[in-house]
Amino acid sequence: MSKIFLTRRIPKPGLMKLNEYTDDYAIFPPDKPITEKELIEDISSVEGLICLLTDPITRNVIDSGRKLRIIANYAVGYDNIDIDYATNKGIIVTNTPGVLTDATAELTWALLFACTRRIVEADMFSREGRFDGWSPTLLLGKGLKGKILGIIGAGRIGTAFVLKGIGFGVKVLYSDPYINEVLEKKTGAKRVKMEELLRKSDFISLHISLKESTHHLIGAREISLLKPSACLINTSRGPIVDEKALIRALKDGKIGGAGLDVYEDEPNIPEELIELTNVVLLPHIGSATHEARNKMAVMAVENLIAGLEGKKPPNQVNIK
Ligand code: DGY
Repeated sequence: MSKIFLTRRIPKPGLMKLNEYTDDYAIFPPDKPITEKELIEDISSVEGLICLLTDPITRNVIDSGRKLRIIANYAVGYDNIDIDYATNKGIIVTNTPGVLTDATAELTWALLFACTRRIVEADMFSREGRFDGWSPTLLLGKGLKGKILGIIGAGRIGTAFVLKGIGFGVKVLYSDPYINEVLEKKTGAKRVKMEELLRKSDFISLHISLKESTHHLIGAREISLLKPSACLINTSRGPIVDEKALIRALKDGKIGGAGLDVYEDEPNIPEELIELTNVVLLPHIGSATHEARNKMAVMAVENLIAGLEGKKPPNQVNIK
């Protein structure tokens, strides 16, 4: 049995780095997410694990990795890992921050524009041969200038998202436990309580990590505070939004629309969402650029190697 296990083939630059270090590794062969049961079967003699955000690194999995020393997650979010349990067992956990910030911030704008300018609808309209000439009222959308953009979470990705939008002329509100001086100085962003942000914003974008305290942070009550024309964008984690409450609001026209890259029970996208036309649905591709995914692969491998060599990995998130 190999010393290192990868739950999925990662991009080449990461594998090249790993090959420079060792050939004593195994990759889960099927090109599909590994299950908890399969993980338990496969990692009994593994010291280093490279896993994905889809892999349930539960107590049982951690217990089955009797020799496990480091779990290097190929993602910035690590809500798939029972971090407290790993920490209690002295197992290092790492993530891949920074290298996917631009990709995710760019995709957030893509999603926002897809919603405000009805890009998906317009594409389908064109393909279906329904374009019979320019019209003053064809597929009208919403402009950005002067509108209020509210971001919940002003960390790396939230900040990059807003900074990339300088020039669109939006006014920015943000809610975050910390003051973000860069955002305030560069964009005039104002820090407000989440409730005020929800009431006032035309577009709301979520940029927080999933923890117990953020599960269903946007529930029925929060959604009821939104303007009827508001558009909610989620590129963070699905369970931050109560999906059922969101579907109800979208169906009843209580909010204008939504742009979702993430879902409560991935990869399942509820049929009711699929049937709605006021929502744009993406398959969790926030970080899906060649550049970001290559860098994530190298970073995960560097973290893994450092951990196995007894050094502090650059992106250790536990056991400080
Ligand atoms: C992450 O790294 O957490 C992202 O969701 C991947 O797209």
